Amino acid sequence: NDFDLVIRNARCATAADVFEADIGVCDGRIVALGTGLGTGREEIDADGRWVTPGGVDGHCHLDQPTTDGSRMADDFLTGTRSAACGGTTTILPFACQMKGQSLRAAVEDYHRRAEGKAAVDYAFHLIVSDPTPEVLGVELPELIREGYTSFKIYMTYDDLKLSDREIIDVLAVAREHGAMVMVHAENADCIAWLTERLLAKGHTAPRYHAQSRPMLVEREATHRAIAYAELVDVPILIVHVSGREAVEQLHWAHGHGLRVYAETCPQYLFLTAEDLGISDDDGHGAKCICSPPPRDQANQQVVWDGLESGVFQVFSSDHAPFNFDGPEGKFTAGSGASFEKIPNGIPGLETRLALLFSHGVETGRLSVQQFVALTATNVAKMYGLYPQKGSIAIGADADLVIWETGLSRTIANANLHHAVDYTPYEGMPVSAWPGMTLSRGEVVWRNGTYLGAPGRGRFLPCGLPEPARPKTRPNGGGA
Ligand code: URP
Ligand code: ZN
Ligand code: ZN
Ligand code: ZN
Repeated sequence: NDFDLVIRNARCATAADVFEADIGVCDGRIVALGTGLGTGREEIDADGRWVTPGGVDGHCHLDQPTTDGSRMADDFLTGTRSAACGGTTTILPFACQMKGQSLRAAVEDYHRRAEGKAAVDYAFHLIVSDPTPEVLGVELPELIREGYTSFKIYMTYDDLKLSDREIIDVLAVAREHGAMVMVHAENADCIAWLTERLLAKGHTAPRYHAQSRPMLVEREATHRAIAYAELVDVPILIVHVSGREAVEQLHWAHGHGLRVYAETCPQYLFLTAEDLGISDDDGHGAKCICSPPPRDQANQQVVWDGLESGVFQVFSSDHAPFNFDGPEGKFTAGSGASFEKIPNGIPGLETRLALLFSHGVETGRLSVQQFVALTATNVAKMYGLYPQKGSIAIGADADLVIWETGLSRTIANANLHHAVDYTPYEGMPVSAWPGMTLSRGEVVWRNGTYLGAPGRGRFLPCGLPEPARPKTRPNGGGA
């Protein structure tokens, strides 16, 4: 045989091109693209179906330690299983530094959590919550050199948020060492003030979560993050952008010539604030509590427009898996706990690609190339994994999805492979789903059957992301 595997009659889509080819795979990598390739030990006939690069999920939370008594329902075993069944072959969860903890200890702890469990490949983002002089001067530069080249910082959440000065200091380290900074942009003091007022009025139901974090708190923090990035002269990426007012700030930045990238997520296309409940006795609204909260239909349209126009480079799940029932889930603080005590986040690793392919590509809103860019190629580039991940190209890992389209299906949690007891997308129609997922040439999902194995996923050290490079300016950059 000439190849370990040949996929015949593939209608390949990359971020740039669409072409018909056979795909030859040896040792887990794509080694040939062409027509009439020789034989493979294993052969798969794609029969003219779309074949896209395996999804790269640039934002998910698995087995991440919490401080409120809650526990994430998915660890690396169930999370990567769910990813594979939804066509995602690379994930980037977060090694989260607790305040008082060294960054190195957080990374080592997180490796132990992944060890022997992951079924698809994974890299780590860092969360920097305690930027001590040691962290800024020693640990972070070392970790960047070792392949942890992106990190998230928070402007809200008491146990994670940085002061403005700390944000500036972290951005300066990213600039010096070439890392990508992801920013959670919400104004913590505005949220605290609004929350106090809501609670004083007895407004504790899940739906008040949305009122405690209106768009202006996201808009203000987005602008502030952009201003600090301009001050320091470093690109940044704003994560989980929810709608119009933040998008306006992104355009403002573009108009000023700044490299400001942005991510959005399925919840901002498919959910609204009404999913947090329409009355005070609607506890099920807790299922859709995430931050920033989903907005309204007009904002969904703004997010769709932004995916189409290129405001967003990255479409991630922000999978943050808490059960609805049980003592460690959404009501870890007791049944009927007020909204500010409900852990934030919704599951979405497995449904991300099918939702966007169905409602984006199959409706004609997005080209299949845009779909690939948003869900794989740009993500790999943003976080230093390209071209090993995120493309169909010679030398790339054979991480591939063969699509089934023209389906009339609805999403049901009973058919998903995560360990969460609900999906916010229950009952939502999808016309496309991965028929087959391959990770480094191995079939991990085929016709509704999971074929992956815990421990086969490998850790990926990341290179310095090209998009994180500061702009070259004639007179040098910076203030
Ligand atoms: O509500 C959310 N998105 N929770 C997950 C953590 C985060 O901020 O991304
Ligand atoms: Zn966040
Ligand atoms: Zn713009
Ligand atoms: Zn998140």
